[in-house]
Parts: sequence; structure tokens; C-alpha cells
Amino acid sequence: NEIYLNGLADVLPGLPTDLTRLAGAAEAKLSATSFGYLAGAAGSEATARANREAFDRWRIVPRMLRDVAERDLSVTVLGTPMPAPVLLAPIGVQSILHPDGELATARAAAATGLTAILSTAASHTMEDVAEAGGDGPRWYQLYWPKDRELAASFLDRAKAAGYTALVVTVDTFTLAWRPRDLDRAYLPFLRGIGVANYFSDPVFQRAVGGPVTDENRQVALLHWIGQFGNPSLTWDDLAWLREQWDGPIALKGIQHADDARRAVDTGMDGVVVSNHGGRQVDGAVASLDALPAVVDAVGGQIGVLFDSGVRTGADVAKALALGADAVLLGRPYAFGLALDGEAGVRHVLRCVLAELELTLALSGHRTVSELSLDFLARA
Ligand code: FNR
Repeated sequence: NEIYLNGLADVLPGLPTDLTRLAGAAEAKLSATSFGYLAGAAGSEATARANREAFDRWRIVPRMLRDVAERDLSVTVLGTPMPAPVLLAPIGVQSILHPDGELATARAAAATGLTAILSTAASHTMEDVAEAGGDGPRWYQLYWPKDRELAASFLDRAKAAGYTALVVTVDTFTLAWRPRDLDRAYLPFLRGIGVANYFSDPVFQRAVGGPVTDENRQVALLHWIGQFGNPSLTWDDLAWLREQWDGPIALKGIQHADDARRAVDTGMDGVVVSNHGGRQVDGAVASLDALPAVVDAVGGQIGVLFDSGVRTGADVAKALALGADAVLLGRPYAFGLALDGEAGVRHVLRCVLAELELTLALSGHRTVSELSLDFLARA
């Protein structure tokens, strides 16, 4: 409605309302290094493409004359009531996209009431991002470092800063072969853009001989590289994590039904079916194709969230119809951030929500819980 009303005064929306066009707009604005970091994926990027193709293989079958005058997008996810089934995926190093980075993202999420998930590899500290988000709902994403004491410190800080749920990313204990970043020698990482949470941490600082200054910065960067990922983790480690965090925990990066069952068995509250936007295992199954088996496997015992390839409101509806409780939006909001900071993220979130609501209504649904396989046909 706002767009229609603005149109009466000849005011155009500044950014594309077709969110599939955001990448092109962002490419024109960002440096090749920044755009490559955001848009890129692992290897030949076959899985990133497959994520999109999987959505195209499902088509919506609209139903008519079902009184959709009153619409309601609200859901409860991992025990948290939300105004809509959309969260902001954790995306690290956001200040290479816009100087305000995660602060802008947190403000935009708070303005729309959506939950932003903050990455461990953020370019601003979790405390500063929490302050920027104010009363907005926030979750924390853990990259589980090698040192348990450092992991515990991250969790304590997240708790103290008001992050209510924990998303543990299990698919990125090391960065994959990502040619667009490798070709530029991973410059943003080596310059230390995603280290704010590490460098500000008392446990980390103790390990590098005190607060990070120009003097020990090189040592700190090397320590960070050593700590970042933890390839030795197993399912047995989750018992320790469960003791450290009393709120909901979801494992992000689950693609196999057996792994989903193990998440149930180890006391997790949810899984995020995700292949990290095709950024980890090139050639991996499309995330949407992995979703139904995971939904079946957990049988409603824990929450199922979904990401990788969501670009439109219709995509959100398809993932929900295939059994997801909610989706994480990834690159689209980051393109919005790159294009116009907080306002750009807000634009993207509002477009997705409006398109989702219209898709639901025009296909004969008032609430997201009415969506089922009946909503879809194979293309
Ligand atoms: C990510 N993703 C990610 N995931 C995570 O758990 N921690 C992180 O720090 C990051 N960082 C990150 C940076 C960039 C530039 C991208 C594109 C992605 C993965 C992210 O949470 C999500 O799984 C994907 O973005 C989903 O895929 P789409 O929607 O971007 O295709």
C-alpha cells in the first residue's frame, strides 16, 4: 500500500522490488572483493545454482473463493512467538558490505520485528549489535572455537547481551574451497574484518598476552585463524554445549535424516536445514531437496528451520509447505545492506513479507499453518 500511495506522489521505491534483481544492483556498487565474498559459493557453485533450481521444480497451485480477508503470518519457532516465519540468517563480516554492517541489520530487523541471528564472525561485537537492536529479538550463531573456554565465554557474553537462542553452525569447521575468495587471497579475512567478537573477548585476550593493539595484532590474527574452526567436534560434544546454554539450541547445516534424528537424541531443540548457501560442499544436494526427509525424520519433535536459496515470498511459502517452521533469509538482505544500509535491509525484509502475505492470500490461505503439500505440484 505504501508503494501505491507513494506512486500517487510520483515517489518510486529506490531499490528493486523484484528481489532476484538485487544481486545485479549490488554488483554495480560493491568492489569485486566484497561482491565476490557475498555472492560467491564453493567450487563450481553448482550447489548454489541447485538451491535455486530446486525451488523452480515446485509450483504453487492456487485455491479460490476461501475468504482470505483476514491474514496472519505469525508463528512460534523454538518456543519464540514471531510476527512472520522469516529470520535473518547469520552473515559474517558485514562491514565489508556497508560500514554500519551488523548494526544496520539489527536495527532493520528490530524495526520489522524479525529475529536477526548474529554471526560469531561479525564485524561488530555482539554487545554493540545488541545495543543497536534494542528491544528487537536476537539469536546468536556460534562458530565453535577449538578452546572450550573461549566457546563458554562467547555463550556467557551472548546470554548477558540478551540473545535468547543459540544456532550452532556445524557445517563450517573450516572454510571450503571458495574460488572467488581464494582468487583474492581472502583479503577481508586476513585484514581481520570478522574478528570483533574474538578480539574483544577476555579469554581470547589472555591467550594473546592482553588487549589487541598494533603490537600483537599479527599474533592475534594467527591465533584467531587457529581458533576459528574445530574439525574434531562430534555429537558427543553437544552434551557439554547443552550444559552451557539453557535456552533453545538449533544445529545449522543439517542435510541428512539420520543427522536430524541425532539432533533429537542429543537434546537439541531444532535444526536448520541448510547447505550454507552452497558455500561449503560443492556438488551437495540442494537444500530444499533435503528438507522433506528431515521433516519426516524429526516427526515434529523439534523445530525445523530452512535456508539456502530463498529469494522471494513465494520461496518462503514453498519451504513452509514442505514442512519448515520458518526460513532464514541470507544473501538478499545482505544485498540490501550493501545497497542502502539499514534502509536497504528494511526494504528487502518488507518486500519479502509483503510478497509472502500476497502469495498466501492469492493462493487461498489465511495463515502459514494452512500450508501443506496440497499447496504444491511438481513442475
Ligand atoms: C553466510 N552464512 C553464514 N552462516 C553462519 O552460520 N555464519 C556465518 O558467519 C555466515 N556467514 C555468511 C556470509 C555470507 C556472505 C553468506 C552469503 C552466507 C550462511 C548463511 O547463514 C545462510 O546459510 C546462507 O546465506 C543461506 O543461503 P542464501 O539464502 O544466501 O542462498
